Amino acid sequence: MDFQYLSKEDIPKLENELFSKIGKDFLSRRVQKRRNLLDYVTKKNLFLILTKEKGVIVGYLAYKLEKKGVGKIIGAGVELNFRKRGIAKKMLKQAIQDLYNKKIDYIYSRTWETNLASIKLHETLGFKKYRTFKNDRVNGESTIYFRLMKGDIQ
Ligand SMILES: CC(C)(COP(=O)(O)OP(=O)(O)OC[C@H]1O[C@@H](n2cnc3c(N)ncnc32)[C@H](O)[C@@H]1OP(=O)(O)O)[C@@H](O)C(=O)NCCC(=O)NCCS
Repeated sequence: MDFQYLSKEDIPKLENELFSKIGKDFLSRRVQKRRNLLDYVTKKNLFLILTKEKGVIVGYLAYKLEKKGVGKIIGAGVELNFRKRGIAKKMLKQAIQDLYNKKIDYIYSRTWETNLASIKLHETLGFKKYRTFKNDRVNGESTIYFRLMKGDIQ
């Protein structure tokens, strides 16, 4: 398993191969709406971590420095056949470390209330729920917000 930051050559692979296999997550949906991953990543100053298996992308995690002192996790996705092997956890740990090095006070993230995998992923690395937006998603689900304070980063 190979673990690296996004390069320009990876963009079409991520867009065409992986996003279609992940289903719903925040980044792939945004890009489907706006149609161009490179533009979106550049405009929003996103960082992307990839995991590859034999040269094929099987997972990604996107994050950004939202403003001074505040990091944001944008989204993550791992291909179905590679889930529950610690891939997302490893990528999220790396993103946390990277944001920590950028002098953040806290990192926040969000998911929807029925996404048990994502909730567990965040909680296992110390994120705490701090806010719920009730029924704010098109299907009537609520959005949960998580925060990881600088002092709680292990
Ligand atoms: C959420 C997602 C990225 C997790 O990826 P993953 O590589 O399977 O996660 P990991 O193997 O690193 O697991 C991280 C933790 O979550 C737990 N976990 C993973 N999948 C789980 C599930 N379906 N139910 C409950 N817990 C789960 C693991 O046991 C692990 O906890 P632990 O370290 O305490 O044992 C993956 O399920 C996915 O791509 N989902 C679809 C897209 C999505 O929902 N993205 C997140 C919203 S932005």
